[in-house]
Formats: sequence, structure tokens, C-alpha cells
Amino acid sequence: MKQYTIRLHPLGKELKVNDHTPLIDVLHEFGVEFPCGGKGTCGKCRIRLLDGEITVSEVHAQRLSKLSLPEDWRLACFSLCTNDIILEVDQFNHLILADETEFSFTAAQGYGVAVDLGTTTIVTQLVELSTARVMAVETMLNPQVRFGADLISRIQACLDGNSEEMTRIIRSAIGTMISLMLNKNKVRLNKVVLVGNTVMQLIFSDCDVSPLSAYPFRTNNLGLKNFSSADLDWNFNVIEPISFFPSIGSFVGSDILAGILATGLHEKEKFTALIDLGTNGEIVLGNRERILCASTAAGPAFEGATISMGMRAVTGAISSVNLEEGKTLYNVIGNTEPRGICGSALIDAVAIFRKLDLLGMFGEINSGDQEIALTGDVKLTQRDINEFQLAKAAIAAGLAILAKNMNIKLSDISELYIAGGFGNYINIKNIVETGMIEIPAEKIHKMGNTALIGAKMLLFPNPEIIHKILELTTLVNLEGDLEFQNIYVDKMLFL
Ligand code: FES
Repeated sequence: MKQYTIRLHPLGKELKVNDHTPLIDVLHEFGVEFPCGGKGTCGKCRIRLLDGEITVSEVHAQRLSKLSLPEDWRLACFSLCTNDIILEVDQFNHLILADETEFSFTAAQGYGVAVDLGTTTIVTQLVELSTARVMAVETMLNPQVRFGADLISRIQACLDGNSEEMTRIIRSAIGTMISLMLNKNKVRLNKVVLVGNTVMQLIFSDCDVSPLSAYPFRTNNLGLKNFSSADLDWNFNVIEPISFFPSIGSFVGSDILAGILATGLHEKEKFTALIDLGTNGEIVLGNRERILCASTAAGPAFEGATISMGMRAVTGAISSVNLEEGKTLYNVIGNTEPRGICGSALIDAVAIFRKLDLLGMFGEINSGDQEIALTGDVKLTQRDINEFQLAKAAIAAGLAILAKNMNIKLSDISELYIAGGFGNYINIKNIVETGMIEIPAEKIHKMGNTALIGAKMLLFPNPEIIHKILELTTLVNLEGDLEFQNIYVDKMLFL
């Protein structure tokens, strides 16, 4: 019998099934729940088709239209696998950060939408500009994931001739998310503000990413990009131009610009740092006089990409590890059988294993085994520990080099904010224990999705602020620092 491959996002799992296998039969074992028992009435088993075909029967079509699901969504309980498919499973998305942090603002007229366009996820919020109240939120996995998980593979996909399609799908996805919010709230939009990393901005704006694919990996096309609804093929009108805010540098985008705004770093007298632990790891250090920033390649390990049983913080992921009375306790999202480990628990596990002397200072497993069993079938291998060391060293070395360039010591930093996809779930004490951030835990604060908070702040009038931040900010090329290699290797150790 013919066999097909099903790829599941954002879990990043792959399975082989026979032709005509009902998805309900195979998704069960991945923790997908079917609350109405597959009658097609609850809509909770919805999946989005990122690639391939799922034939829709007449009843299936009736159920989809009753649930008002957009065109590329299906109900898993009514779907059969008849070709290779890539699916986004909505139940896996529930932990994407959609921030509700309050901020000060000058009231304005009308309504706006803030968009955080991430490499992995997209979050949109509809905001009432007279009160800054969030009226609706939509989150979605970035449909470009079918072209690769990280920025390098997205750039490669553009070079391979997919750039037009990647621009089209991202514009259409964000347009659909905004339409969904407007369907529930019948308002006229005054503004749409987008922030994202440089590659996301260029692809959204239909600009060339090829300068980022080869030495010196630099683009000069960093500025603000404005559009009309018609330019983007959106079926709703926006009164003011739709603005994608400027990037700071080739690998530090407007998401970090928005993060600086959200933390108020540009107005602080004392030195303050911001570390965004998203798919890329960006680091910012400065105050109201000068700001330095840099990007590192730390993210993939924390998002599970380079860890053998790594996964995002979704159903079945070990999300935290605790040590109580000498016993290691594991928390699994959704209280199901553990299937893997997410970034926050990886940090916990390494900190605890070090404390229990299961790991040596070079990251070696002291027993001489090649792996450490966690819970269920989940394990951490020697390679996983080494991947973690590379990621933690990238962050620690990045911050050390920015401090060196600023001519200050790490102890001069008065506050450090952690932002990004899993930043909210991490245990700060453990992050300090691993040596990833060499600053006392009481100076470190979790700040959620700073890119989204900053994007919302950009909906309110304050025209000079972006110029001011850009003027203050200098991009530092970490690898270009003569001491980078030495510092990096040093920071891999567990001291
Ligand atoms: S399980 Fe309820 S719609 Fe599929």
C-alpha cells in the first residue's frame, strides 16, 4: 500500500501513514484532543494545511462553513491523508505569547492593529486607540515554516525562486488574521504597524534578501516601508499607510527596535540590557546616551531545533524540571505522556544535573554514558548538552562583548529584561546557575513579548521616538571582535 508523510507543526514531528488513513487515528497519539468525538461541531481539532491537499467532502465543507473557518483550515476529524501533507495543529499553538502588558500612551482617535511578525509565529492585536484596550488577538504559526524553520533556510528558499510565494503567503496570512479580528469587531482601521526581524521585513516587503546570503551579509535596505491595503491585496481598508518599521541592522530588526521602546531602555540613566530569546538571540545593552546591540545564533537550541528530543512549549513537552528533597520532578504540558523537552526545561535540567554532579565543568556526562534519562522516554544526550553549551555561550559571550565595547563591567548593568517566545516560562535562577546570564537573578526580569508591546506603542503618536532610538543605537558584529573566540570558548564551561 502507498505511504505518505505527515509533518506536524509547531511540534516539528513527522509520521508515515498508509494511504487514506483518517487523521483522527494518528493525531490522538500526539495529544490532539477531539472534544466532540469527531462530530465536526466543536472545531477544536482544526488544522491548517500548510502544504499538500486534503479533499473536503460535502459534510466537511458544511461543518467548516458553520464554524466560519478560513479557506486553508480543515477539521482533523473529517480528514484523510491521501498525499504528503504539512499541517499546523491549532491545539499546539496555545502557548504562543500574546502580550497584555499595560503601557503609557497619548490617546488617539480610532483603531489600530499591531503585528509581531516572527520567524516562527505571528501575533496580531486590534487596539482601541482612545484607551489602548486590546479588543481582539489572533496568533498563527508563520506559514513560511514550510520553507524552513530558521532565517538561513528562509533566505535560501528565496534564492531558490520561492520569494514571490513567500511574500504572497505572509501578506495573505496577516490579512486573514486582521480580517478575523475585524469580523468580530466591526470597526474601521486607522493604522496597521508591523515589526519583525530584517529578513521577515524584506520578504513581507517583496525586497531582495540575497545580500544577506553572502559575505559581508549586509543589506542597506533597512528603512521604514509603507503600503496601502491594495498593495498587499487585503480586502479591508486602512486609513493611514500600513507601516513596517525600520530594522536596526542586517540581523537585528524592528522587533528589537520595538523591544527597546517597550523596555524604555533609551530613556534610562543606568545601564540596562534586553535579551530576546526567540528564534534568533538578540542582545541590547545601553542607556539614554548610547545603545549597542548584536545578534547571536542562540535561538534554535531553545526552540528545540538542535536538541534530539527538543520541541516547542506545546502539549507533551516537559516545560520545567524541579529538584525537591533530592528528587527530580518533571512538569509536562497538558499532563500527557512526555514526548520531548522545551527550552525552559532544558535550562532547568542542565542547572539541576550540574547541581547533582551528573555533569562536569566541560559539560561531560560524569557517568561516562552518552545520555541522561529524564522521564518517560525522554532523554538528553551528550550532544544535546553540548548544543546547549553553544547556545548559552553565544548569549554570555554576546553580553560580555557588548559590555566590553561599552567600557563597563557586567556588574554595572542595573537591570536585564528577558523577552521572547519562551522567556516567560524560564526559571531565572537556573539561567544564572548555567552561566548563560552572569548577572544576579534579582536584577533580571521577564518581560514577555516586547516586540508586540513596542508595536502597540508605535500605534500612538510619537513621531520622533524611532529616530531617537536609531540615532542612539550601534550594531556590533560579535564575530568581528578579536577576543570573541576566546570569550566564547570560555563561556561554554560550567563554572
Ligand atoms: S473533534 Fe470536534 S470538530 Fe473535530
